[in-house]
Amino acid sequence: MTIEPMPGPVLTGRLVRLRPVGAADHARLDVILREPSVARWWTPPDEAGPAADWLADEGQVSLVIEHDGVVVGSIQFVEVVDPNYRTASIDLFISTAAQGRGLGPDAIRAVARHLFEARDQHHLTIDPSAANDRAIRAYQKVGFRPVGVMRAYERGADGSWHDNLLMDLLLGELT
Ligand SMILES: CC(C)(COP(=O)(O)OP(=O)(O)OC[C@H]1O[C@@H](n2cnc3c(N)ncnc32)[C@H](O)[C@@H]1OP(=O)(O)O)[C@@H](O)C(=O)NCCC(=O)NCCS
Repeated sequence: MTIEPMPGPVLTGRLVRLRPVGAADHARLDVILREPSVARWWTPPDEAGPAADWLADEGQVSLVIEHDGVVVGSIQFVEVVDPNYRTASIDLFISTAAQGRGLGPDAIRAVARHLFEARDQHHLTIDPSAANDRAIRAYQKVGFRPVGVMRAYERGADGSWHDNLLMDLLLGELT
C-alpha cells in the first residue's frame, strides 16, 4: 500500500523533531511497530500491515519523531472539531532502542504546545492500557493526570479486551 504524504506541522522539542509522515517512512514505521515492546500494546494489524493501520484513521495528524536525524517513532493527534469542545487526543510509539531516554515526553510536549498555542485547544487526553506502566509514568511526567479506568475498552495483542486509563491535561498544566 502506498502512503501519501500527510499534512501536518513541523515541530521541534528539546530532543526531537516532528514532521509529517511521508511515503518513504512507511517501511521504517512498519519495522518499529512490529518490535515486540511496541506491538504488545496494539491490536494485531490486518493484511495492510501496522503502519497502514496506524495511519488509516481519518481526521488525525500523524508525525514522525526524529532524533539525531533518525526516525525513532511516530506521534498522532486528533482534534474535536467543535468550538464547545476544545479538546484533542494524542497517541505515540517510540522504537525499543530509543525508549527510556525522554524522547516520548519531549514529543508529547512539542505536540501539546502546538495544540495549546497554535490550535487554541485547552484540554488533551491520552488513554494507555491500564497495564502500560511505562506509558503512564511517561505521561504523568508531562503533567497528564488520571481521570479513571475505562473497562474492557480496547482489544489487545492477544485478542482479549483490557482496561485503559483515561488521562487528561489542561492548558497550564504542561510540565
Ligand atoms: C510509552 C512511551 C511512549 C514512553 O516514551 P519514552 O521515551 O520511552 O519515555 P521515558 O523516556 O520517559 O521513559 C519512561 C518512564 O517510565 C519509566 N518506566 C519504564 N518502565 C517502567 C515500568 N515497568 N513501570 C513504571 N515505570 C517504568 C522509566 O523509568 C521512565 O521514567 P523516569 O524518567 O522517571 O525514569 C515509549 O516507551 C513507547 O513507545 N513504548 C512502546 C509503545 C507504547 O507503549 N506506546 C504507548 C501507547 S499508549
